[in-house]
Amino acid sequence: MDELNTRCGIPLGDAPDPIALFRRWYDDAKHSELNDPNAMSLATATLDGKPSLRIVLMKRLDERGFSFYTNGESRKGHELRSNSAVALCFHWKSRQRQVRVEGTVTELSAADVDAYFARRHRMSQIGAWASEQSRPLGSRAELEQRTADAEARFPDVVPRPPYWTGFVVWPERIEFWQEREYRLHDRCVFLREGDGWTKQRLYP
Ligand SMILES: Cc1cc2nc3c(=O)[nH]c(=O)nc-3n(C[C@H](O)[C@H](O)[C@H](O)COP(=O)(O)O)c2cc1C
Repeated sequence: MDELNTRCGIPLGDAPDPIALFRRWYDDAKHSELNDPNAMSLATATLDGKPSLRIVLMKRLDERGFSFYTNGESRKGHELRSNSAVALCFHWKSRQRQVRVEGTVTELSAADVDAYFARRHRMSQIGAWASEQSRPLGSRAELEQRTADAEARFPDVVPRPPYWTGFVVWPERIEFWQEREYRLHDRCVFLREGDGWTKQRLYP
């Protein structure tokens, strides 16, 4: 067994599967993180390579990758639509672990986004109508007025705003980092190759 397996409890095996490993670490984090074990930093960049970074919540991990939801007309929305290269970073302080993901993003289908939006709390749905995410806001009162207006406009079912959307990150590179004594941490990177993955240990 690879030394990394024993030290990190990482079941790499013969056919390395970083998604299975991610799920295991994520399950661990769900038991120990104070808030939002699904919080991930999302790095995007403009077409000319200027980066920006913010936290979003991972809402699903499946064969397509890591999904999250947002306002398609936000700053990140514009950047994602013009440059599909993205990076994610999870940091689970309670486990002294980090997972870095790099890949490309695609927009989820309207059906996918509708299904998720319909499950959200009514006031979160209202908030999606009230907020012109990332654009200038004159005052808090203006936001509260827009919220009240949306509540009055949709007394029953709240439809999904056309600009509210979701994206999925198809991972090409996933790196696991586990803190160890004296800065001699464990790092292992998985690179997508054909239908599978290769793995490589890195110096910390
Ligand atoms: C813990 C946490 C979770 C967040 N989750 C989301 C999210 O799932 N979607 C989202 O659009 N913004 C989320 N935000 C807000 C974003 O970090 C950011 O402020 C907002 O999306 C605007 O980013 P932009 O101007 O780069 O588009 C979250 C912030 C925090 C701190």
